[in-house]
Amino acid sequence: MTQTILEANDVCYRYSKKSGNVLDHVSLRIDKGVKTAILGANGAGKSTLFSVLNALYKPDSGEVLYHGEPLSYRKRNILRMRSEVSILFQNPNDMLFRPNVEQDVAYGPENLKLPREEIQKRVDDALFAVGMSDFRKSPVMRLSYGQRKRVTLAGVLAMHPQVLIMDEPTAGLDPQMAYEVMEIAEQLCCNGVTVIMSSHDTNLTYSWADEIHVMQNGKCVYSGTPEGFYSDKIAVYQAGLLAPSAFLMNEGLSSIGVVSRDPFPRTQTEVSAKIADNKGGRFGTLHIMEIAPDSDINALVMDHGFGDLSTGIYGMSARRAQDTSKARIDFMYNGPENCTMKCMAGQDSLVLCDPVMVESAKKSAEFINNGGYGDIKVDVIRL
Ligand SMILES: Nc1ncnc2c1ncn2[C@@H]1O[C@H](COP(=O)(O)OP(=O)(O)OP(=O)(O)O)[C@@H](O)[C@H]1O
Ligand SMILES: [Mg+2]
Repeated sequence: MTQTILEANDVCYRYSKKSGNVLDHVSLRIDKGVKTAILGANGAGKSTLFSVLNALYKPDSGEVLYHGEPLSYRKRNILRMRSEVSILFQNPNDMLFRPNVEQDVAYGPENLKLPREEIQKRVDDALFAVGMSDFRKSPVMRLSYGQRKRVTLAGVLAMHPQVLIMDEPTAGLDPQMAYEVMEIAEQLCCNGVTVIMSSHDTNLTYSWADEIHVMQNGKCVYSGTPEGFYSDKIAVYQAGLLAPSAFLMNEGLSSIGVVSRDPFPRTQTEVSAKIADNKGGRFGTLHIMEIAPDSDINALVMDHGFGDLSTGIYGMSARRAQDTSKARIDFMYNGPENCTMKCMAGQDSLVLCDPVMVESAKKSAEFINNGGYGDIKVDVIRL
């Protein structure tokens, strides 16, 4: 049964009496475990909506509900809610206020009054997750914009929130880190965290989001599946957005009769599989090996006779183990996608995978098998 975590009910908000509504009768629901993206052009009201959902701003009319209860704006209640719902602000300079990196990341866990060792572990893990372990003693003010953004992300990860609101988490990051942020978002969801993300990058969010809400001039003009929205070209144009390339390729290819329109591919691998439609061909096996942070990857790969396979990495514990073992990896990014593509080409491949992400790593292979575009065997090797 779906459980609604956050809900905006006919919310209006304006910054001053003179200005018009920046949020104009917005109603939307965020359900537990549903990967939710908030899309919209510059100035559409995404950041304002997030501040209202996080009780930073109080609506002028309408209400925000958390777990079905209207928000109380009493300090104690707000603090309790914020210990469960973390927000990553769009601008890192709004979030960094301690002199060096590790102090800044430790700030939230310290406020939760956690034991010293627990704080240390959370800071270590969070800095590793965002690739900033080598900068732990660096002064925050000497970091680049993208590095600051990584540190603020580490700060919210260290809070271990139940709900994470991320405002433009990939903007200003290099492409590899942007990919890693999406992998982190996926991992959080696999761990039961409800993640809500705003973005202009419809390509990155398309392969991730279950549900989107589209903001336009302060109104929520669409709530539903991504495909339902992108199918309406005029609505996409009016919202100031562009449809993702996987969606557009599928539309183009189906209009000239190369593929059927359904099912909608969300990734390049899925588009490729639909085009190849390799019925009766030879397909490789996708081996997915669970990896703990202290696993000896080199020994495991050798023991299973996987030394010659193309190998991809997926998830935090596998990245930790790879960092220690310095094992050879062919695909540091998009591991499951690239390995699935190898299987399409008739070769076996190996995903070194965080145990919580095994189901997620299977997704493209399942899309291919369920659509009848191939027959990829999936072999999970448990810890
Ligand atoms: N502190 C503020 N004071 C007054 N007006 C503001 C303030 N912050 C935002 N606004 C206005 O509210 C509207 C919505 O802004 P908001 O930042 O919510 O948009 P957004 O969708 O997050 O945009 P972007 O994609 O650029 O991040 C804009 O017209 C903006 O000018
Ligand atoms: Mg914004």
